[in-house]
Amino acid sequence: MYSARCTLPGAAGETGDGHAAGALLRGWRKRALLTQEQLAEKAGLNVRTVRRLESGGLQPRSRSVLLIAQALGLCGEEREQLAAAARGAPAAPADEPAVSPIVPRQLPAGLAALAGREHELTIVENAHRAEPAPVVAIDGMAGTGKTALAVHVAHRLAPGFPDGQLYVDLRGHTPGTAPVEPAEALARMARALGVPRADVPDQLDDRAALYRSVLARRRVLVVLDDAADEDQIQPLLPAGPGCRVIVTSRRRLGGLGDVRALSLDVLPPAAAVALFAEVAGRERVAGAPRGELHEVVARCGALPLAVRIAAERLRARPTWRVRDLLDRLAGDRLAALKAGRHDVAAALDRSYDRLPADLRRAYRLLGARTGAGANVDPRTAATLLGTSAPHAERLLERLLDAHLLREAAPGRYLFHDLVRDHACRASRVA
Ligand SMILES: Nc1ncnc2c1ncn2[C@@H]1O[C@H](COP(=O)(O)OP(=O)(O)OP(=O)(O)O)[C@@H](O)[C@H]1O
Ligand SMILES: [Mg+2]
Repeated sequence: MYSARCTLPGAAGETGDGHAAGALLRGWRKRALLTQEQLAEKAGLNVRTVRRLESGGLQPRSRSVLLIAQALGLCGEEREQLAAAARGAPAAPADEPAVSPIVPRQLPAGLAALAGREHELTIVENAHRAEPAPVVAIDGMAGTGKTALAVHVAHRLAPGFPDGQLYVDLRGHTPGTAPVEPAEALARMARALGVPRADVPDQLDDRAALYRSVLARRRVLVVLDDAADEDQIQPLLPAGPGCRVIVTSRRRLGGLGDVRALSLDVLPPAAAVALFAEVAGRERVAGAPRGELHEVVARCGALPLAVRIAAERLRARPTWRVRDLLDRLAGDRLAALKAGRHDVAAALDRSYDRLPADLRRAYRLLGARTGAGANVDPRTAATLLGTSAPHAERLLERLLDAHLLREAAPGRYLFHDLVRDHACRASRVA
C-alpha cells in the first residue's frame, strides 16, 4: 500500500517546474498500476494529452489536470502538491486550455415579491444551510409556482455563491420540444463555467465528470428547472461541498440520494386574493365586495397561474367589474383562463401528453366519472376503470406522483377542480 502523501523519488521538493510536475504525475500513475493508455481512458482524455502532461506541459488549473487528479484518486494534499509543482510551468499548448474563471449569473429575473410562500421559503433556505446540504426538489402541479419560488429563493441565496449561479430550463413540459438531454445540459453548463467548446467531451459520463471536476472547488448555486424525471437530473448533480442545487419538477422525484422534497400546493385563499389584487391593480378591485374576490380565486382553485391569468384579463378590460369576470369563470373555466401566452389548459395538456397510454385513459375516465370535489378510493376507482383494486391503486398513485391527482387523506384521491375540468375535456375529445 502507498501512503496518502506522495514521496516520489526525484520528484519531491521539485517545484515551479513543469517537468517536476510531470514526474509527479508519472509516479502517481505508476503507483496506481496504470499505463498511460489506461489512465487516458479512465480520465476521458486522449493518450497524447497524458504523455504531454507527463513530459512537462502542465498548467495547474487546466481541465486535464483536474480530470487526471480525479482519475488517480489524488487526495487534497497531493492535488495541492501537483498544483504547486505546476505553478510557473510553461503555458499550455493551444489544445490544452485552462478553465477560465468565468462567473455565470444565469438566474432569470424573479418576482420582486411572492404572494404567500413564507413557510416554503424558510424550508428551502434552511435546507441550504445544512451540512451536507440536500438537493432541494420542489414538485407540484402545473402553474403552482415552482419556478417562481425556486428563482426567488435563488436570488436571495445568490450572495452566498461567489462563483456564480447556473440556471437550466430542462423543458420537461415545454410544448413542441422534447426534454433537454442531460448531455446537452452538461455541455451548456460546462461552457458557462468557462470550458472551451472544443474541450467538452462527447460522452455523457465524461461530460458529467468534467462538470463535477470544474465545480469541485467552486461555490455555485445550480437551479435545474422543470425536470422531466430523475434520469435527466442525476448526471447534473455536482458533488463538491460548495455547491447547492434546487430542482423543480411536476413529478415527485425519488432515488436521487439526499433530497429535501417540497411539494408545493396551491396558495392559501388570502395569498391568492393578494396575488389577484396585485396583478389586476388595486384600484380595479378596491370597490369589489371581498366575497367576490374570494369567489374569483376559488374558481381559479387558488392556482397561481390561474389567478394571475384571471387578474390579467380583468386588467386588460377596463369596462369589466369583478362581477363580469366571475360570470365568465362560471362557464367554461378553462376557456376563460387564457391570456396571451398564459393558458391553464395548455399547461395541463403538457402534463397529460407526457403520460403513458394507461394513465391517460385512467385520467380521462376518472375525470369524467367522478363528481366535482368528490374523492375516490382504490375500490371505487377499480369499478370506474374496470380493473382490480390493486391495479387501480397503482394508477392512482402514479397520477398522484404526476400531480394530476391530490391526496385528500391516506388512500383517498381527488382532482383539483381545474384538473378535473381538463380531464373531462380530454375524455370528450378522446
Ligand atoms: N407565490 C407567487 N406569487 C406571485 N406570483 C406567483 C406565485 N407563484 C406563481 N406565481 C405566478 O404564477 C405563474 C405560474 O408560476 P410558475 O411558472 O412558477 O409555475 P410552475 O409551477 O413553475 O409551472 P410549470 O409546472 O408550468 O413549470 C407565473 O406567472 C408566476 O409568476
Ligand atoms: Mg416552472
